[in-house]
Amino acid sequence: MASIICFLLLLAFASLAKAQETRSNITAGSSLSPTANSSSWLSPSGLYAFGFYPQGRGYAVGVFLAGIPQGTVVWTANRDDPPVSAGATLLFTNDGRLILRSSQGEETYITSASLSAYSASMLDSGNFALYDPKGSVLWESFDYPTDTLLPTQRLLAGQQIISSISATNHSTGIFRLKMQHDGNLIQYPVNTPDTAPYSYFTSWTGGAGDNVSLNFDVDGHMFLLNTTGYIIRNVTPGGLPTKSTIFIFRIDSDGLMRMYSYDLNQKGNWSVVWQSTNDECDPKGLCGLNGFCVKNDQQANCQCLPGFDFVEPGNWAAGCERNFTAETCRTGDASASYVIQAVDNTLWEDDSYSVVPSTDKDGCKQACLEDCNCEAALYNGGNCRKQRLPLRYGRILLTEPTSALIKVGIAKPVTADQNKKEMTRRDILYVSLSLLAFGFVMMAISVVIICKNSMWTYQRIRNKIEVGLAKDPAPRPFTYAELEVVTDSFKEQIGRGAFGTVYKGVIGEKTVAVKRLDKYLAEGEREFQTEVEVIGRTHHRNLVRLIGYCLEGTNRLLVYEYMSNGSLANVLFDSSESRPSWDERMEIARDIARGVLYLHEECETQIIHCDIKPQNILMDKNRAKISDFGLAKLLNADQTRTFTGIRGTRGYVAPEWHQNKPVTVKADVYSFGIVLLEIICGRRKVDVDLPESEAILEEWVCECFWNGEIGKLTGDEKVDEDELKAAIKVALWCISDDPILRPPMKRVLLMLEGSAEIPTPPIPSSSICTDKSFV
Ligand SMILES: *[C@@H]1O[C@H](CO)[C@@H](O)[C@H](O)[C@H]1NC(C)=O
Ligand SMILES: *[C@@H]1O[C@H](CO)[C@@H](O)[C@H](O)[C@H]1NC(C)=O
Ligand SMILES: *[C@@H]1O[C@H](CO)[C@@H](O)[C@H](O)[C@H]1NC(C)=O
Ligand SMILES: *[C@@H]1O[C@H](CO)[C@@H](O)[C@H](O)[C@H]1NC(C)=O
Ligand SMILES: *[C@@H]1O[C@H](CO)[C@@H](O)[C@H](O)[C@H]1NC(C)=O
Ligand SMILES: *[C@@H]1O[C@H](CO)[C@@H](O)[C@H](O)[C@H]1NC(C)=O
Ligand SMILES: *[C@@H]1O[C@H](CO)[C@@H](O)[C@H](O)[C@H]1NC(C)=O
Repeated sequence: MASIICFLLLLAFASLAKAQETRSNITAGSSLSPTANSSSWLSPSGLYAFGFYPQGRGYAVGVFLAGIPQGTVVWTANRDDPPVSAGATLLFTNDGRLILRSSQGEETYITSASLSAYSASMLDSGNFALYDPKGSVLWESFDYPTDTLLPTQRLLAGQQIISSISATNHSTGIFRLKMQHDGNLIQYPVNTPDTAPYSYFTSWTGGAGDNVSLNFDVDGHMFLLNTTGYIIRNVTPGGLPTKSTIFIFRIDSDGLMRMYSYDLNQKGNWSVVWQSTNDECDPKGLCGLNGFCVKNDQQANCQCLPGFDFVEPGNWAAGCERNFTAETCRTGDASASYVIQAVDNTLWEDDSYSVVPSTDKDGCKQACLEDCNCEAALYNGGNCRKQRLPLRYGRILLTEPTSALIKVGIAKPVTADQNKKEMTRRDILYVSLSLLAFGFVMMAISVVIICKNSMWTYQRIRNKIEVGLAKDPAPRPFTYAELEVVTDSFKEQIGRGAFGTVYKGVIGEKTVAVKRLDKYLAEGEREFQTEVEVIGRTHHRNLVRLIGYCLEGTNRLLVYEYMSNGSLANVLFDSSESRPSWDERMEIARDIARGVLYLHEECETQIIHCDIKPQNILMDKNRAKISDFGLAKLLNADQTRTFTGIRGTRGYVAPEWHQNKPVTVKADVYSFGIVLLEIICGRRKVDVDLPESEAILEEWVCECFWNGEIGKLTGDEKVDEDELKAAIKVALWCISDDPILRPPMKRVLLMLEGSAEIPTPPIPSSSICTDKSFV
């Protein structure tokens, strides 16, 4: 037995030295099965194997160290797929594809479906490779690292490794290490943008340029190489002596990077020769939302904020949630149902929506109690930063002066029954925590935490977002990362307008539209905040509702309710068969008028839309709603007219925009008039395919009206002549050159509803109806 092991070891040394040359020979037509004699293909030395290894109650496919008792897994194929049962087979088919077939006959590709290889090989470096007939590599596992790097494996610019759920569950965990194109090697939590606020480890080599790579020598030395081949940073020292030592580098499930060594002669255990930090609380996201990390006896420990309990005791990453039902908060009497509890010396992600400058701690507490939007505040000895829940990336840091002030509901008298339930819940918590502690002692060195699948965390975030939505009708702040989750990384673009791009997203069950504003237009956080609040306070059935917003760095995003039927432009101009009937069209016109009227006269702060056009009228079933209101102001706090020329859409813009006259709500009335003409005639404002006399809609309408030929305007459509004439008269009033002549929106609506007299419109003075021969 001993001699066999010696032989294996000898082989191992020999092959490590010339890893690339020694190949096992796996030919097309081979197969493996978890329980048969051959459940894996060994590397020539027997150190590494590719094939089935036990995972949960079944098996997974990957590369593992078959030559040591621990059988350490270093690579997993399709790591997020559920384990397969004993009846599964791994096939290297005759046509050269690598397929995992479950006992039910379902097939999954291990490499890409299009790849057809001639032979395969498990190399002594731990790399599993597929070759073409000439022996060139078509695919290798080294190019698709999971959580581990092996000597001679490189992490190239743009690549990342992601931790596993736990030492025994190799599904995607919650931390990642990325070799960035800017030359930095950085650790982040998963599902975050690659930006500094989320990082918790950096090599400080940013600026070294693209194409920096992380390299790993067989002696355990890891270093960053720049494009010209210079070592610009040592990551691990390496140079450790004996040739019988093997190394692996891994981002562990607790978020720390560790270099492990194993002495093949001594058959001992893995030992940690390097780790990225001694502070186990460093990794952001370890404690989940509303939890914070405390170091006890050199180990990280998560706790919940006051008034919060673990969502899932024992699973830190799932975070904490309030253990009380939040009372509906009414401005003024909030302190009646809440108290503030402080957690001192804590560090959190600052995601404040408002800052109260130079105050004391009591002032900060009071400020939060008095503000219904405030759920917590961070007080740093001067400023008071008001926050919405959840709080993220919390940890105790004794050098940190910040106190987290948490709004906690005052407990209502608890009935005996509730009390009992509470006790049982507590008991479960305690038992679970004891079990967890017990588990800790028993676990191998690399296991530090039991984490949860990132999908789960993802769901949590989505649910949290949803809870936030239901509770509060005011627009709520989102982090950029949350909106990335909501829109699946801005995958589905549903529109592009003057202000930015609109993406489809999902929050819980609800579909939303996320509008990303162009950066250069949006400056000033304070103004943005104020304007968003103004927009947020507008609630009307004919206005698209603003659900939330994001203000983070240079990012400005708005989250709106999603409108399923596209815009009025689609409805009117795109689909001639399904064009709404005359009655439906008039109802749409009245809907728009109601929305504009609300903006002008009924909401707290008057809003001039400035950009009313069919593209900004969205359709939900058959109701029209106005979108993009308030944006004009939002994008230019100084409001009126400064953006003449760039603002508005040619053709819908009132003449005063082009003259040096003040712009008032009447500019919107003009735009509405043009839209009304389009609704009446069911055609675009300008249509160059039509004869010259008909191409410009308002000129043609004007001409037909004064010539008494309005029947021409609706073509084949049968429309009551009186109704048609009334609608045209309203539109012509609206598009009067002189703003003073244009009726206010209230009157426009009354006229459209038939409850106000419509006088004969004024004879146009300028461009419109140039041929006045008919008057
Ligand atoms: C692998 O096996 C095939 C068929 O048995 C043979 O043709 C080929 O030469 C072998 N290749 C190596 C590298 O041993
Ligand atoms: C397993 O291998 C042994 C000896 O190599 C052989 O006798 C036995 O039949 C094999 N079993 C299967 C299921 O192939
Ligand atoms: C691994 O963890 C994920 C997420 O918690 C879970 O869905 C999966 O079933 C686990 N796999 C095993 C084999 O336990
Ligand atoms: C990046 O690095 C690789 C390998 O070091 C090299 O082959 C390639 O030419 C480099 N690319 C650039 C753009 O420098
Ligand atoms: C790589 O690093 C060396 C040494 O620091 C430096 O002289 C060289 O300019 C760097 N190459 C690039 C492409 O930055
Ligand atoms: C909520 O948890 C806190 C501890 O953080 C505890 O003091 C309080 O009694 C709990 N409240 C309820 C209603 O369970
Ligand atoms: C490795 O170390 C852990 C604890 O450090 C221990 O529980 C385990 O039994 C060891 N494994 C071997 C094979 O010695």
